Amino acid sequence: MLRVTYLSRESDPFTAQALVDLLEHCKRNNPTLGVTGMLMYANGTFLQTLEGETGTVETLLGRIERDSRHRDFQVIKREAVQDRLYENWSMGFERLTQATLQDVPALKAFQLEDFNPEHLSAHPAVVENLLERHRSLHWDPLIREVNARDQFIDELRRALVNARQRNEQALLLIESVIEASAEDRLTDIHLQLCRRMVDTLRQR
Ligand SMILES: Cc1cc2nc3c(=O)[nH]c(=O)nc-3n(C[C@H](O)[C@H](O)[C@H](O)COP(=O)(O)O)c2cc1C
Repeated sequence: MLRVTYLSRESDPFTAQALVDLLEHCKRNNPTLGVTGMLMYANGTFLQTLEGETGTVETLLGRIERDSRHRDFQVIKREAVQDRLYENWSMGFERLTQATLQDVPALKAFQLEDFNPEHLSAHPAVVENLLERHRSLHWDPLIREVNARDQFIDELRRALVNARQRNEQALLLIESVIEASAEDRLTDIHLQLCRRMVDTLRQR
């Protein structure tokens, strides 16, 4: 398999509708080709990674390079790979803003206007950070919220299992006290057990 990352610059400003059309095309076409990847856009600059079977990626890349909607096409990374990094994305997309960049400590010094082919091709570490940040999905506030909810639900689940366990122990103890009382053999030990149980039930 092959993974390729390239940079390019729009020929004419892309409208939001033109971006939507492009993405819709990618989402229709890439799954048929078995191609996955991501596309980042800002300042009229595209940064795209494509991955899939070598021949398929090479052919698609050739088509993309000839697309007159962009120019100054330059491949900045080409690697033979075993696994995909974007297996769930027919084409992940993000329009960068200064605010989203601020979320990433490694990109704090990076200004949005630096998102251009000259700067990016001269700073491979910045490109890596941008791609890594995109892959980790944390740039998306909605995904961050869903993750936080998942975590919250996990905590609730653990708390519920704990509460059930304590409940079960308390029930057992109460039953043993009732049994002892019915047989007229209540002792101090039962009182101590009751105290211990009260302490356990009070724990959070
Ligand atoms: C920045 C950019 C990224 C593109 N990415 C893809 C892509 O991932 N998949 C795809 O099928 N076409 C992509 N295209 C569109 C292709 O360049 C091309 O227009 C499309 O595949 C249709 O090609 P055809 O006219 O030769 O059939 C992209 C175009 C641009 C400008």
